[in-house]
Amino acid sequence: MTARIIDGKAHAAALRAELKATAENLAKRGIHAGLAVIVVGDNPASRTYVRNKVRACEEVGVLSQLHEFPADVTQEALLASVRDLNADPRIDGILVQLPLPPHLDEARILAAVAPEKDVDGFHVQSAGALLIGAPRFVPCTPAGIMYLLEKEGIPIAGRHAVVLGRSNIVGKPMALLLLQNDATVTICHSKTPDPAIHTRSADILVAAVGRLNLVGAGMVKPGACVIDVGTNRTPDGKLRGDVDFDPVAEVAGSITPVPGGVGPMTVAMLVANALRAASLRRKD
Ligand code: GUN
Repeated sequence: MTARIIDGKAHAAALRAELKATAENLAKRGIHAGLAVIVVGDNPASRTYVRNKVRACEEVGVLSQLHEFPADVTQEALLASVRDLNADPRIDGILVQLPLPPHLDEARILAAVAPEKDVDGFHVQSAGALLIGAPRFVPCTPAGIMYLLEKEGIPIAGRHAVVLGRSNIVGKPMALLLLQNDATVTICHSKTPDPAIHTRSADILVAAVGRLNLVGAGMVKPGACVIDVGTNRTPDGKLRGDVDFDPVAEVAGSITPVPGGVGPMTVAMLVANALRAASLRRKD
């Protein structure tokens, strides 16, 4: 069997086109959504992500502001910037690009973002809302994956979904979203003795660990939907996921490539969240 390739780039382009119409409708009501992106230091991956986010905003018609800080910025200066943006009426969404340098207290900085502007869905209020099944802002990568599953007609209810990885920004919210859609969900992590025991029965397998070629063909149930969140560099500098693509594509029913799978959806979902923040905040 050769898997169907899930074209995240095409799905994201279609979503951005819809979002452009949403932004135009908001503009007719005098609402011009604004997103502030905070980036610290010069991590090349972060710079690339941020550039893509700003570009997607421009395409859709969301105003974006880039706030760049040197790697040695103080916690106080960063918190002051977040507070200014919280109070700025032109800004509907605030995103702090992660990871932050180790001297900064990531949890405190994320907690400083006003929950109504938390377009990344990383604030504890957003996480709690998702946990109880009343989501406000859903983290962009898992939200983008749910969008792909829906558009691709992948059944979720009653199926076994296995999530590899338990990060706050992907693994945990991913598992919650699959659970809310009535999947039976297993989360595997670094202390799981034998993840393959679980992955081999997964109808939906989400790999979000950050380890090149972690998922081999022997770990995949024939016909499964395999979603690859990994972004790893090969020794010769190529961007590749957590899934050993060619052999796994021989077994899976459908699969997302890296690049061109989940990544573009994350960016499009951020723009969707920014527009949602704008319409929620200025409903009155
Ligand atoms: N770093 C890796 N992924 C993300 C993301 O979705 N949002 C932010 N803010 N930082 C990230």
